Amino acid sequence: MNDNSRVKVAIGSDHAGFQLKQELKRELIELGYDVVDVGTDSEETCDYPDYALKVALCVSEGEASRGVLICGTGAGMSIVANKVKGIRAALCNEEYTARYSRLHNDANVVTMGSRVVSLEKAKSILRDFVETSFEGERKDGLRHVRRLEKLARIEEMYCREVEG
Ligand code: RB5
Repeated sequence: MNDNSRVKVAIGSDHAGFQLKQELKRELIELGYDVVDVGTDSEETCDYPDYALKVALCVSEGEASRGVLICGTGAGMSIVANKVKGIRAALCNEEYTARYSRLHNDANVVTMGSRVVSLEKAKSILRDFVETSFEGERKDGLRHVRRLEKLARIEEMYCREVEG
């Protein structure tokens, strides 16, 4: 088994994703990850942007190296998380996207829809996401680094820091 104990994963959900978040949190702990759970803490209705922002900030500020966000579809969470500088959130409701969003995009947040995936599918997507490395670190992966550099330049041009 890999030693994942120093790799921190931030996880969050809205009410629609709460039950699945609890299961995925257990799965991450079983895989040996250190988990930060930002909420929500019940099925009481709440707003997905609040939790997407918390996880995105944990990752962008370096408190966690990866993030996991669950809502009904996964779409709202990815839309919000991608507003935060440095976040590359991928909506993954199947394993292929989870693997390739790591290999090619170096995605640092995965989002899923609790109303779209089964529990077993979600666990499998999660495992693929957290256990796949970015291909850009390989000699034949330089094109991915070049593309991420373009992405970073776009972010520099259009993503403004706000004071206070
Ligand atoms: C909540 O009903 C639902 O809109 C939310 O979980 C999410 O799917 C939004 O993208």
